[in-house]
Amino acid sequence: MNIYRREFAIGTGAVLTTALFAQACGRAKPGPRSVNAGETLDPPIIEALRYGITAPSAHNTQPWRIELISDTEARLFMDRERLLAATDPPGRQVHISHGTLLEVTAIAATHLGYRAEIETFPDGEMAYEEFGTKPTARIRLVEVEGDAVDPLFAEILGRRSSRLSHEGPMITEDELSTLVEQARPGDLQMGLVSDEQRPEAFDIVRRAMKIEADDYELYDETRLWFRFSKREVKRHRDGLSVNTAGLTGFSAGTANMFLSSRNWHKEKNRERYLETFGKTVESTRGLLTMITPTNTMFDWLHAGRVYVRAQLAGSALGLRFHPVSQVLQEYPQMDELRPELDTLLGVHSPAKVQMFVRVGRTATPGLSPRRGLDALLV
Ligand SMILES: Cc1cc2nc3c(=O)[nH]c(=O)nc-3n(C[C@H](O)[C@H](O)[C@H](O)COP(=O)(O)O)c2cc1C
Repeated sequence: MNIYRREFAIGTGAVLTTALFAQACGRAKPGPRSVNAGETLDPPIIEALRYGITAPSAHNTQPWRIELISDTEARLFMDRERLLAATDPPGRQVHISHGTLLEVTAIAATHLGYRAEIETFPDGEMAYEEFGTKPTARIRLVEVEGDAVDPLFAEILGRRSSRLSHEGPMITEDELSTLVEQARPGDLQMGLVSDEQRPEAFDIVRRAMKIEADDYELYDETRLWFRFSKREVKRHRDGLSVNTAGLTGFSAGTANMFLSSRNWHKEKNRERYLETFGKTVESTRGLLTMITPTNTMFDWLHAGRVYVRAQLAGSALGLRFHPVSQVLQEYPQMDELRPELDTLLGVHSPAKVQMFVRVGRTATPGLSPRRGLDALLV
């Protein structure tokens, strides 16, 4: 079946989702893209990638470069300008952030009547210095007749991370089962921190944030990706902002560090931030762990794919995700605390906790901006 005609046949739905997507991408004036009779939508790979780039990425860096090969094929590369050199020395998190894009693109493909065949590292794995020179994946869309649309498609445009305090009940075992079922974890192990483990886990999460905030270089990386005004958000359409920082419980004075880049490292501001972060952690209704049996680049991409599927499945249940990644990170300042979490969770090398995530119900968080697809094309 011709993709363009098929899309037109479901015209209203396509237009609506495009409008929502425009909003997700932080366009100043979101609105439907008009598709008149006889006009066509863009090639399927572009339509699918338009959803793909709503995927979550660490610090919302959107570290993606996309090479279009044909109407149904593309290669994904690392954007070297968008690595997190201080907090992500091996590049593990930026690869997870590639897995998320691949999976959201694949889910969107099912809505367009295609199946996505994804070949990871088609030209082999890379050393850090080679990031961006070889593709992390090649995506090929294959037209299929009668395949079901992935139910997670419905959640793509509503998904957002939330750093707000949790409200309401704890995450249930049933909810966890639904997340696991929908996430397609394969050999990745998903679980919840137990009631007995919670106090120690909370303590580790708080100490990890303090280690990061007290280290100038590590914490400066967040400052660099922080957009301090609406104008900065509009200009960059990436990074973090006061709108998405999770400001429940902040007094006006406490938000000082979010008002100007100059305030960022001031001791008082950091203290207040850590205090508020601590309270948010205390409200946590579920702490989700995602553990791979090994820690290869393939595991990183896989973890990203599983993570975003779980987050989309959570979205359908009214659950919001907030990764608390500090303790997982490989910079030397975390070398003492990281093993404490591994011991608590019974994780032994080469197994690796890839994602550690607060999961619960929150007020509606702010929407995080995206650059347009055009900005990512090579
Ligand atoms: C690998 C990875 C690590 C992340 N780590 C953190 C984290 O430590 N703290 C946090 O607040 N958000 C974290 N996030 C969430 C991102 O900041 C968030 O996805 C991004 O800002 C885009 O926002 P959105 O998910 O609402 O679209 C992480 C996301 C990914 C994919």
